[in-house]
Amino acid sequence: MKRMHLLLAATASAVLLSCGGKEEKKTEKFEYQEAEETTTEAPATSTDANVADIVLVGDDLMKFNLKEIKVKAGQKVKLTLRHAGKLDVKVMGHNFVLLAQGTDLPAFALEAASASTTDYIPANSSAVLAHTKMVGGGGTDVIEFDAPAAGTYDFICSFPGHFAMMQGKFIVE
Ligand code: CU
Repeated sequence: MKRMHLLLAATASAVLLSCGGKEEKKTEKFEYQEAEETTTEAPATSTDANVADIVLVGDDLMKFNLKEIKVKAGQKVKLTLRHAGKLDVKVMGHNFVLLAQGTDLPAFALEAASASTTDYIPANSSAVLAHTKMVGGGGTDVIEFDAPAAGTYDFICSFPGHFAMMQGKFIVE
């Protein structure tokens, strides 16, 4: 979405340059369009303030780039999980699993490890508040969910053997 806006803005600028001052009417039109794009992208708009845009990156070294994710209560969370590595999903798969407070991490991870038929997400688990799909090298998944009540939560990758290295705190303020 953002990339498209940037592209549109770039196109508008290019046309502006090529138009010069020859056709005033056209120039005005493009200036207006560019201004509109800028407004859409401004982070201060009320729509953007309601969405926490999080990008979590996993790699071939079994690591997440974030140890802590902070959002605000009442926000919608748009979480993008990206696997920056090259290894296959069966070897080095990563997901994002947000767990309910009080979840016993080793016990949950053990249960998840045996849930290979359901993408390592235990079926009917009340501990799972939100999760992405499992992605391999070069893969991406985007999910949206409402931030849970204020407090501190754990997030992990539930691929077998990964949670000890791949975990962090999801803090709702
Ligand atoms: Cu993983």
